[in-house]
This record gives sequence, C-alpha cells and structure tokens, in this order.
Amino acid sequence: MDDLDSIVDGALADFQACIDPAALENAKAKYLGKAGALTAQLKALGKLPADARAATGARINAAKAKLEGALVARRASIADLKLAAQLSAEALDVSLPGRGVGVGGLHPLTRTLERVETLFRSLGFDVADGPEIEDDFHNFTALNTPENHPARSMHDTFYVEGGLVLRTHTSPIQIRYMETHAPPIRIIAPGRVYRVDSDATHSPMFHQVEGLWIGSDVSFADLKALFSDFLRNFFERDDVTLRFRPSFFPFTEPSAEIDMRFGDGGWLEISGAGQVHPNVLRAVNIDPERWQGIAFGMGPDRLAMLRYGVDDLRLFYENDLRFLRQFQ
Ligand code: DAH
Repeated sequence: MDDLDSIVDGALADFQACIDPAALENAKAKYLGKAGALTAQLKALGKLPADARAATGARINAAKAKLEGALVARRASIADLKLAAQLSAEALDVSLPGRGVGVGGLHPLTRTLERVETLFRSLGFDVADGPEIEDDFHNFTALNTPENHPARSMHDTFYVEGGLVLRTHTSPIQIRYMETHAPPIRIIAPGRVYRVDSDATHSPMFHQVEGLWIGSDVSFADLKALFSDFLRNFFERDDVTLRFRPSFFPFTEPSAEIDMRFGDGGWLEISGAGQVHPNVLRAVNIDPERWQGIAFGMGPDRLAMLRYGVDDLRLFYENDLRFLRQFQ
C-alpha cells in the first residue's frame, strides 16, 4: 500500500468517525484543504519524472473524487442522524392530538353582502357587477354629475393614471347595466368603493349596494315597500320603521336619504335614494317618457355594524382574527 492508498483509507475512516457537520468540514480540510495531505501529493507531482506524471496524476484525481463522494455521503448521513435524534421518543410524542387545520370562515361584511343578495334575489332582483377602476363618464358624467361637482374634488377621489378613478360609488354600475340591458330592470350591485375619508364611521375603502329598478310606473311607493320588506327580513324584526328625508343627488330627482330605526330608538341613515333623473336615462338612450324608476345606494357596512353591534367601522378592516372569529 503506497502513500496515496493510506491517505484515502485514513480520510475515509476520519470522515466516518465524524458525527457533526463542523467536524466533517475540519476533516475535509485535513485532506483536501490548501495544506491537506492529498493536496500535497498533487503539489509533488511536478517533482516526478515526466513519464510517471500522467499515471500518478490520474490516480490522485481518482482519489480526490472518491473523497469528495464520501464527504457528500457522510454529510447526508449526519443530517439523517440528526433528524433521527429529533424524532426519537423524547423529542416527539406521536400520541399528542394534532393541532388541527383551521377551518376558515366568511368575513362579517361578506356575510352581510351575501345576505343582502339573497334577500333581494328573493324579491326578484338580479345581482350585477362593475369595475372598481372607472372612467369619468361612468362615475360622473352619465350620472348627471357636471364637471364642477364637488364629488370630483381631489379631496374625496383617488385618481388613477389616464383620467380614471377608483370608483367613488357603485352608481356607475347603473350606467353599465343600462348600456347593455333594456328595461324593465331590477338589479342590485354590491361592491367596494373608495374615498379619501377615514374615521370611526368612514374608511377609505368601504362597500355600497346599488339598486336600480326601472319599469313603466315604478315610483317612490315601490321604493318604500321594497326597503321595508328588505330591512324587516334583514334584521329579522318587525319593529323597523323608515323615514325618507329630502336630499340631493345629481342622478335622482327627487332625492332622499332613507333612515331607519328599531322601535322608538334613534334614526340611522342607511341609504341614499331617489327617482332616477331623466338625464341619466337619456345618457344610456332610454326614453324617459316611456320608462321611469327608482335607485338607491345603500351602506351595507352600516347594516353590518347594526346587525352585529359593532361601533367602529375600522374593526372590520383590521383583520384581527380575535375580532373576526366572533362572527363565525
Ligand atoms: N351614489 C350615492 C353616494 O355614493 C348614493 C346614492 C344615492 C345612490 C341615491 C343612488 C341614489 O343610486 O339613487 O353617495
């Protein structure tokens, strides 16, 4: 057995004796490092007679490959040893009950929207949808909202590139729906809307449910009946009363705010509403002499606060699971 064989045998025995990664790296240095035994053999090659160099060089390279292979194998078995130690009886009690997979649940606002949809569907309404990034025409102009209307102010609108806005209300869905559907129409359109506004009752992103009911003789009386029905079902209470307060919206005439209360409690505003303005119908080529209707824009976040007894709207958006789990 010459030098090279004994170096290889010694290295293999050393590697095998290592039981942690640091010791193995030290052993590696002893043979393959700059001052390692095998490296010394390589360096000595130059001193050999020319005719012996090629054969000896090949043997040294083969020895080096062998050691490198042994290192890889030993690294893997050290890792296996470590895992086996961790899995040994003390470290892992396989009789412990599992942690369980958390079963997710719907967010209270999602539940509220689904409830609103179900109830309006039962009253014969379809559910429509529209983009959250809107153009000027659908968000404002077609809704009879002139250039200089305060709703366009930088202060309550988020502008997006290219003259687009994050929609400030769900009313543009009225326009998009009427552009593609002829009357009679009965839809609600729930969705996210955005305004620069933030306090206990306002969040920069919140929800609205738009409503649009167009027919040949749809009137405020229908609006009142619709809302009474809806609210009694939504809150599962009969002592809900409504109040219509005169208001202004460019896209309705006359316009109203709808307030509600339980029994003789305080009034709470829950929706804007009104008779659809003829200009809105004209903007989508519907003849206002033939068709008329009512529209509303309701705040479902407010309904959720009332239904669940939550007094700060922001809690719904903080996503604290301790809060959200209460509604599962
Ligand atoms: N878009 C209005 C807002 O965001 C709410 C609204 C009021 C919608 C009256 C309507 C309506 O459809 O008829 O404040």
